[in-house]
Amino acid sequence: MPHSADLPDDIPVLVLNGPNLNLLGLREPDIYGKDTLAGIEELCRETAAAHGLRADCRQSNHEGVLIDAIHEARTAHRAIVINPAGYSHTSVALRDALAAVELPVVEVHLSNIHKREAFRHHSYVSAVADTVICGAGANGYALALAHTATLVREKR
Ligand code: DQA
Repeated sequence: MPHSADLPDDIPVLVLNGPNLNLLGLREPDIYGKDTLAGIEELCRETAAAHGLRADCRQSNHEGVLIDAIHEARTAHRAIVINPAGYSHTSVALRDALAAVELPVVEVHLSNIHKREAFRHHSYVSAVADTVICGAGANGYALALAHTATLVREKR
């Protein structure tokens, strides 16, 4: 099977959002902001397009579904932008999946996880991410897509 780096230019970037992020806008807005997931996904598509990329946005509350999406990305996507949400702090399996697919990975958190409870300070995903963006709110996704364009260009 061809690796994504060998595939044509219109291959999208996978934007993957983890558990509870479907509730953005309603969920603890003082921490996560008022933007809905639909709004953030639109921002991702617009930013990707402005940088000559295409964003394929998905969200799941299920660890296995997220892992399957990451495996699929190996041949179907150019790079992964991921907010692993609560699984950041618990999931070795998600970390292993990201390591296995060998794509550029940008980890995003809306909040600054280092300013919050101690259990949020460690993310299993960070060790396999090229870049980590946290504490920039919804704009973090725009920063992530813009930076992904750089990572994708560097990989070519
Ligand atoms: C989050 C931070 C996580 O600690 C939390 O479990 C989330 C969202 C963020 O975007 O700030 O669900 O990833």
